[in-house]
Amino acid sequence: MSPTSTSSPTSRPTPAPLRVLITAGPTHEPIDRVRFIGNRSSGRVGASLADQAAHRGHDTTLLLGPAPVQPSDSRVKVVRFRTAADLQGLLREHARAADVLIMAAAVADYRPKPDPAALGAQSGKFRRTDQKMVLELEPTPDLLAEVARARRPGQLLVGFALEPRDEMVQSAAQKLEKKAIDLVVANPLETMDSPEIEATLVGRRGVMLSTRGAVSKSEFAKWFFDAITPKLAEITRA
Ligand code: CTP
Repeated sequence: MSPTSTSSPTSRPTPAPLRVLITAGPTHEPIDRVRFIGNRSSGRVGASLADQAAHRGHDTTLLLGPAPVQPSDSRVKVVRFRTAADLQGLLREHARAADVLIMAAAVADYRPKPDPAALGAQSGKFRRTDQKMVLELEPTPDLLAEVARARRPGQLLVGFALEPRDEMVQSAAQKLEKKAIDLVVANPLETMDSPEIEATLVGRRGVMLSTRGAVSKSEFAKWFFDAITPKLAEITRA
């Protein structure tokens, strides 16, 4: 198959079981004790990837944000998070041991700066007044870039890039460089919260493969693991 083929990859022999760590879902960044800033990520791509990884015999852990989805395969170990800071803590705990990290979570890029009046024990929430209200946001750390800075040789790090269609591939290639990771799954904005995904896999040498148009998220998960099989075969468990 040519490296720029847009068809499905052919089935290849299953590589040895690996430790696969997947993140999925949105983050909820608290404004006060009852309100948050979130996003529309459903967590379905990550949950489907976790099911597929477990189905292929990999030791699979899913770090799952506040989304109603659950993996169907009971072999998937699920650990829940709520905020980018929670996920940062979990990645510090789990990422080093993983052979493969697939970062499908839609992590907030900004979060409300902690406000003692809003989060404090006294009222716990902002009260309505006649004045306008300004929320101050601070950037979250780039979690994938942090994992990449501490990576072990031989780990495979995969990110996602949700982008306007016409900038998708270029932006995915920039993210690959900036975060120093191995692969980026580029997908158009319409994928967010949709039952289907149209994906393009971008590696160090550019576009590797695209799905044949939009496919269900479980079909995508099969396609993705077939596509990365040669890379998984190169990994020797630490
Ligand atoms: N990501 C992360 N930490 C963040 C934000 C994003 O690890 N604080 C990860 C996502 O899980 C995804 C990848 O980085 O795998 C790309 O996320 P995206 O929000 O598209 O990219 P950013 O690097 O935040 O860049 P931009 O917002 O400019 O598109």
